[in-house]
Amino acid sequence: METLKTGILAVIGFALGIAAESAWGASKTLSLNSRQIIDGVADCLRNEGVVGTAKMGVQFGYEELLRPFVPRSGEYVEYNGVKVDERRVLDSFVPAATIQKWEDKPEYEEPIVAALRAHVEPDDNVLILGGGAGVSATVAAESVADGDGHVTVYEAAQRQLSNIDRTLEVNDVADDVTVNHAIVEEDRNVFGVTGEAEAISAETLPECDVLEMDCEGAETAVLRNLQSDPRVIIVETHGNLDAPTNEVQRLLAERGYGVVAERPGMPEQDIYILTAVREDALPDAAARR
Ligand SMILES: C[S@@+](CC[C@H](N)C(=O)[O-])C[C@H]1O[C@@H](n2cnc3c(N)ncnc32)[C@H](O)[C@@H]1O
Repeated sequence: METLKTGILAVIGFALGIAAESAWGASKTLSLNSRQIIDGVADCLRNEGVVGTAKMGVQFGYEELLRPFVPRSGEYVEYNGVKVDERRVLDSFVPAATIQKWEDKPEYEEPIVAALRAHVEPDDNVLILGGGAGVSATVAAESVADGDGHVTVYEAAQRQLSNIDRTLEVNDVADDVTVNHAIVEEDRNVFGVTGEAEAISAETLPECDVLEMDCEGAETAVLRNLQSDPRVIIVETHGNLDAPTNEVQRLLAERGYGVVAERPGMPEQDIYILTAVREDALPDAAARR
């Protein structure tokens, strides 16, 4: 019975998704064409099976077609205390659509958030590579709100741009943040279609006081090509994506940085969050981690 229900929901979900793609011009906002949708569904069937694919079909149909028209609830989904989206009144009534995305995540990116809160000063210019859901950008923006600092974000995935914008807007920090659509150095694991993203080298990045990067394996290339020397570099290593912790540490040391904190992300995949401080700023950073 459950499987039959899920199957029916899947058919509805896919129909809604494809209708959204062709009739509502969703191909433009998602940068997907029918061929990519069919390939995506085939991939999904292989990886998630029929039930998993059915759930994703329903999620897609609800999220893309219906949800924008469902009334807001006045309550917010929060990632690590940062508002990321306003709940819609039907979210919790659409079983397969109660997806992770709309659950609170109190520990979301905690090591990066903690490092930013410890090191960003009100007058700092902060550079964020890998904007994601916009949480670290919001935390950085809140830290510069009382000064002359500014936050500049680079994000490669087209869809993440609207997530970032929404997060900045609901937290009232959009004026302190500039968001750029670009693939920095290389695409090893961008979270979605890149669309019109510009491909740039770290050589062209603006100078900053604090650099935070969680860009899915591009970190080592950034450290090799970065032209400036920020006071603080917060970096998530990705041993699973060919940016291993020991190589990141070596590159930081070569640039004259001391690692003042090493927080575990997913140690089993060699993912750590390192906070590194430029040699001349190390005495000041001693009390912060
Ligand atoms: C884990 S998320 C970052 C989360 C973010 N710190 C937050 O607070 O939500 C990583 C992001 O990096 C983006 N990304 C991956 N590779 C990239 C690259 N080479 N250039 C720019 N963005 C990249 C992904 O698309 C994804 O949105």
